[in-house]
Amino acid sequence: MTARRYLAGNWKMNLGLPEARALYRGVADGAKGYPATRILVFPPFTALAALAEARREGEPAIGAQNCHFETNGAFTGEVSAEQAKDAGAEFVLVGHSERRRLFCENDLLTRQKLSAAWRAGLTPVLCVGETMVERSRRETRDILARQIQRALEGANPRAPLLVAYEPVWAIGTGVVATSDEVAKAHGWVREEVAAAGRDVEGGTPVLYGGSVDPKTARPLARIAGVDGFLVGGASLEAASFLAIAEALETPEPRASAAN
Ligand code: PGA
Repeated sequence: MTARRYLAGNWKMNLGLPEARALYRGVADGAKGYPATRILVFPPFTALAALAEARREGEPAIGAQNCHFETNGAFTGEVSAEQAKDAGAEFVLVGHSERRRLFCENDLLTRQKLSAAWRAGLTPVLCVGETMVERSRRETRDILARQIQRALEGANPRAPLLVAYEPVWAIGTGVVATSDEVAKAHGWVREEVAAAGRDVEGGTPVLYGGSVDPKTARPLARIAGVDGFLVGGASLEAASFLAIAEALETPEPRASAAN
């Protein structure tokens, strides 16, 4: 079949250490049933090192939700990409819409954070997507082009990267983009990624994110060009998260449910 698909869980600012440990264990045990899906989890920093230490060979990789672009220094409250890597992270989310919207992160900062991630040996997941207003003005394509071009300006096209298309209006709202919208947007993202000199087929997986749950996952998983999902709310329970892995591995409804 096609290249391996990704399922990434963004736990955001949720879970204490005992809950995080329990969720990771549930996901790691269940993940064995989905060998064709590469599962990643992004716990809060307070749980990252503990989970990474307890992680066994082959279990879901762990990522940081954010990083600072400097290696160290007087940046109270911040965590550098090197520190995240040292704590056991292999991936890092960059440019998530909550960072852009709530913490005023712009395209320049996003580019700096991507560079920091590569410098530290992390694989960044670059998040892009349009707001509701931009969508209603039919600016989606321009917004995606701007965000991707500015983020990847001057970047080594061989540096490891995942991109997540996350329409801002679909995040945490229960509103999912239609299959047609997702297919179109993924096409645009892939065009921009290719224009940046990157290998699109397999080399730079493009995930969809925004209210993905076990129900919405199956039709989304059937869209060509969707290489996996970045999931928020539904990643906070092992059962719902793993049900999304099931949808990625068997996007067609089982025979009994057909027609
Ligand atoms: P959601 O969040 O699945 O809760 O919509 C997705 C995300 O923020 O990455």
